[in-house]
Amino acid sequence: MTLAGRRILLIIAGGIAAYKSLDLIRRLREKGAELPCVLTAGGARFITPLSVAALSGQPAHEDLFSLTDDFGMAHISLSRQADLLVVAPATADLMAKMAAGLADDLASTLLLASDKPILLAPSMNLMMWRHPATQANLQLLRSRGALQVGPGAGDLACGEVGDGRMAEVAEIVAAIEGHFSAGPLSGVRALVTSGPTFEPIDPVRFIGNRSSGKQGHAIARALARQGAAVTLISGPVSIADPPGVTTVKVETAAQMLDAALAALPVEVAVCAAAVADWRVARPAAEKTKKVAGGTPPSLVLEANPDILATLAAAGPRRPRLVIGFAAETEQLLDHARAKLARKGCDLILANDVSAAAGTFGGDANTVHLVGPDGVEPWLPLSKDEVADRLVQRIAVGLRGAR
Ligand code: C5P
Repeated sequence: MTLAGRRILLIIAGGIAAYKSLDLIRRLREKGAELPCVLTAGGARFITPLSVAALSGQPAHEDLFSLTDDFGMAHISLSRQADLLVVAPATADLMAKMAAGLADDLASTLLLASDKPILLAPSMNLMMWRHPATQANLQLLRSRGALQVGPGAGDLACGEVGDGRMAEVAEIVAAIEGHFSAGPLSGVRALVTSGPTFEPIDPVRFIGNRSSGKQGHAIARALARQGAAVTLISGPVSIADPPGVTTVKVETAAQMLDAALAALPVEVAVCAAAVADWRVARPAAEKTKKVAGGTPPSLVLEANPDILATLAAAGPRRPRLVIGFAAETEQLLDHARAKLARKGCDLILANDVSAAAGTFGGDANTVHLVGPDGVEPWLPLSKDEVADRLVQRIAVGLRGAR
């Protein structure tokens, strides 16, 4: 998609991922965007204003009190003239400043002086990313409407491995295009749960299930294609993170619930994850040993929280559309109707997961859409087609809810 005529203000904060921002400038300029850039003092330690200026085609802005920048009013004009502010890398420090409303340099001042949409591409060390302060700041910024892309997981520049790596340039470009695309869901925030959950028995064993995540991931991809800002909360799967989607990786149902609540507010929630109904009440701290001739241990289980039902009962924070799945091996429609009522959701996609149907791990899905007005059988479709159809229904449903 072309970004001609779009003015994107790129704020480059002080993280090693700033080197990727030079490529981001090139890609956005290739697409025709006008790209004024701001470097924080930290950002200018990682990449030079000269490189930024050469690639963006205009001087890089650094100074809050520059006499050459609109008589010191750069923070007003730069934010007012932009269609979108992109912060890449968004460091823990800059996000903390934004959350607190601080304005002690050009970047933080123009973020505070802006009434334009803001897209954050967080980037930091794993511990900084996981720190409750960072997560709380991000949650606050999201609740104020900030959009987010990434971070992903992988090798971090600090030598550690884990979450915190800035989204790839292509993902940031896709998120920007998604924002500007006139898709029916542009401006809509969505959360999708996907994949299985793993519930620990001891440090090496767990209770899991055969969910591949293919259907949930396809729904996240389809929502993003239609312009929605998507948070995908995924249990352990072996498929790739969808591009242009913020993927949060979890293992247990409890972590999935926390991540889902942290993703609020959203307009639509699709719970496609195969969440374990039960978890081990007291997982062993050490590996349970096999005793020769001894009796096998018994597992005491307790119920997991129901994420779908919790979202559907979230009061003022309830997404306008809450959609669940019913995976059944028998009496598909009766169970799905009962589930719709019991969980308080708006729609249920009922699918047959008997071994004969080959749904788990397969690429096709035979679905019935169950809503308050009745049951709509869908012909066998690929999981991508199911996702596209569901997203069309979401667009219609949200128009109705508006
Ligand atoms: O009760 P059951 O597991 O059959 O319900 C399936 C639906 O509820 C799916 O949409 C699934 O993602 C959701 N669910 C949930 N949290 C649970 C159990 C199921 O979100 N603990």
